[in-house]
Amino acid sequence: MIPTLTTPDATMVFARDGYTFISRRCDRLGTDAFRTRLLTKPAVCIRGADAARVFYSDDRRFTRRRGAMPTSVVHLLQDEGSVQMLDGDAHRNRKDMFLGVLTSDDLSLHDVFDREWRSAIGRWQGRPEVVLHDEIEQVLTRTAAAWAGVPLSEREVPRRTRELSAMVTGAGSFGPVNWWARILRNRCEQWIRGIVDRARTGDLHPPEGSALATIATHREPDGRLLDVTTAGVELLNVLRPIVAVARFIDFAALALLRHPQWRDEFAEGREDDLEGFVHEVRRLYPFFPLIGGKVNQPFTWNGHDFAHDEWVLLDLYGTNHDARLWTDPEAFKPERFRGLTPDPYTLIPQGAGEHRDTHRCPGEQATVALMAQAVRLLTGAMRYRVGVQDFTVGLSLSTAPPIPRDGFRIHSVTPAGVAADR
Ligand code: HEM
Repeated sequence: MIPTLTTPDATMVFARDGYTFISRRCDRLGTDAFRTRLLTKPAVCIRGADAARVFYSDDRRFTRRRGAMPTSVVHLLQDEGSVQMLDGDAHRNRKDMFLGVLTSDDLSLHDVFDREWRSAIGRWQGRPEVVLHDEIEQVLTRTAAAWAGVPLSEREVPRRTRELSAMVTGAGSFGPVNWWARILRNRCEQWIRGIVDRARTGDLHPPEGSALATIATHREPDGRLLDVTTAGVELLNVLRPIVAVARFIDFAALALLRHPQWRDEFAEGREDDLEGFVHEVRRLYPFFPLIGGKVNQPFTWNGHDFAHDEWVLLDLYGTNHDARLWTDPEAFKPERFRGLTPDPYTLIPQGAGEHRDTHRCPGEQATVALMAQAVRLLTGAMRYRVGVQDFTVGLSLSTAPPIPRDGFRIHSVTPAGVAADR
């Protein structure tokens, strides 16, 4: 029998503790699962590698996402009709579409990113201050659009960046911040539906294999094209998360500041631990606190009988910080990944299990590639200073998903090779 929290409804405590809500209580109760009520509904909270295996490994048992996250979150992130709301063969068919676009060997995404970042350095040079988070979001918006085959004029960049960024920032909020983000989302959806229409009428000719061409021509198991609303939603499920990678890049810049030995290592072109560095940033720093799912077929785990339709929350952040899985979990140690292929059930910031058969993030390879390129650019393509500022990374829900509080401000930016005081 798993323990039940005594608090009648833990919503406020969850909002306060945020990323540590589940693991603090699991540690206190000596369990990997407990029952509680959130948003007035009964819920079971679980954490750890075993929990991740149970949650992701068998889609007959779990995986259903419909009704598993508040609509205030779903409508800003994956949205109704998206791959995340599908199960079984319909899910596999749609997931293959994403994997086809995002995991091809000649993924040129990071080349486009490299080009866009290098041209941005010229814009940053001479500026009294650069807010790295905001600038990288713009660089990633340009990158995502160019790579996906989506036309985007220079004049449109700030506006589309604002819309795509608000979808991520607003997802963790309730009230006016969330409502405004949904207004911006509706505008962005209208724009992207127009783009899909133009690709289908032949007014636009996106490169073959690009995200726009692939999604506009994708056929579902019944042979039909995606309706234009769903095609728009899925195209945003490529563009938005690419822009969201800016958060991980902020944290990589923060880690380079706090652990300068890694900066020197990469600046000298030594990359043996570059992928380990990227994984360690994804492990240690907060992005999504948890993922929700609904039980399909009843089963028993950890002494608890999971009933059909039961609401279950898997602790992503807590599992990445689980001392049973990670020695010294609060320490930044890229070397822990030396000679190691991350276990699909322990390093789970982007979901767990196999990519094709579960809801694990199809953008993981692209995320790692973009982050590695960003570290190369931060240590090899530019020189900059980091001024006094607030680097706090909040763990309460009100700031989820967080960034370093001041957006990681830099100044005296010059291209590498041009003298600048560090
Ligand atoms: C290149 C960038 C990215 C793309 C294109 C992308 C796209 C997606 C898509 C389409 C899904 C749904 C998969 C499914 O339901 O089968 C997904 C799932 C997920 N993504 Fe990403 N993503 C990207 C980056 C990120 C980043 C930076 C994070 C941050 C941690 C993230 C976290 C997640 C998580 C936690 C899931 C699992 C959701 C679940 O189990 O339902 N993704 N991603």
